[in-house]
Amino acid sequence: MQRVEHEIERLIKEIDYDEVTRLFGTLSGGKRLRAKLILKIATNHEQAPLLGAIVELIHAASLLHDDVIDESTLRRGVASVNATDGSKTAVMLGDILYSKAFSSLVEFDKEIAKVVASSVTTLSKGEMQDVKMAQEFNSDEAKYLDMLYLKTATLIESAAVGAALLCGKDAEKHGVYGRNLGLSFQIIDDILDITSDEKTLGKPAMNDFVEGKCTLPYIYLYEALNSEDKQRLENAHAKPLSQSDGMWIKQKMGEFACIEKSFTLAKELSNEAMQVMKDDEELVQILQTMIQRSY
Ligand code: IPE
Ligand code: IPE
Ligand code: MG
Ligand code: MG
Ligand code: MG
Repeated sequence: MQRVEHEIERLIKEIDYDEVTRLFGTLSGGKRLRAKLILKIATNHEQAPLLGAIVELIHAASLLHDDVIDESTLRRGVASVNATDGSKTAVMLGDILYSKAFSSLVEFDKEIAKVVASSVTTLSKGEMQDVKMAQEFNSDEAKYLDMLYLKTATLIESAAVGAALLCGKDAEKHGVYGRNLGLSFQIIDDILDITSDEKTLGKPAMNDFVEGKCTLPYIYLYEALNSEDKQRLENAHAKPLSQSDGMWIKQKMGEFACIEKSFTLAKELSNEAMQVMKDDEELVQILQTMIQRSY
């Protein structure tokens, strides 16, 4: 991972603009899940740290834009760039990181460059869908999962596929692993929004529903409620949550085991990922850490 950090630093320096170096320096690194995944798959491949760095730049860019989109003021435990320097700066920094990542992909085989770059198109489509879906109360689980695949799983899938291609491993198997890991990862993220707190997460908690995002626990809750309570939930959608509504939602989610149900699906997806990679201890370990994580 030190080599990944080194490559990230080098790529940022190559951008050759002090303001970018300063702003990038204010972002902390995060869990580096995607780079770790690449290193575990393409261990010892000379170009693995660069691929990891590129994917982390893409991920950082997506978060810069995501915080603008979600009007979120906290990221990785510190004020987000849109909060400190404004949305315009956050968007432009995101553009610089994306384009730097793309131009660095020319160092790789065409197939690798294509799978990683096109995942950004897909994730951006997913972000658009997420925003569009948040305009109305969505209770359609399949639609929600399709959107999750686009916005979160594709980048993780492409990291796994790219790393497999790099070292001549089975790209299809690694794709299945990455896709299911990614889906499971976003469901856990959605659960943590409800069960955890801002301090632990380093980003706002209990905020998805306020933004209009009907994540899986909310979909399961809606399914379980009687018609009067369904109406109450719909009325609370996409606006600041009163303390009493917040408490009511958590109590009802407890009553109908909505978090447990969501966690069960995350676990099933993670098990599917495990099935294809059961002989690879390190990739199984990543799944376990991911599913048990608290932030
Ligand atoms: C956050 O990703 C955005 C999602 C796809 C849920 P991470 O949870 O990997 O963020 P960092 O990089 O660790 O901060
Ligand atoms: C995932 O969605 C963001 C991206 C795929 C870029 P979220 O909006 O849930 O991510 P967080 O919770 O802000 O990290
Ligand atoms: Mg967000
Ligand atoms: Mg978002
Ligand atoms: Mg989230």
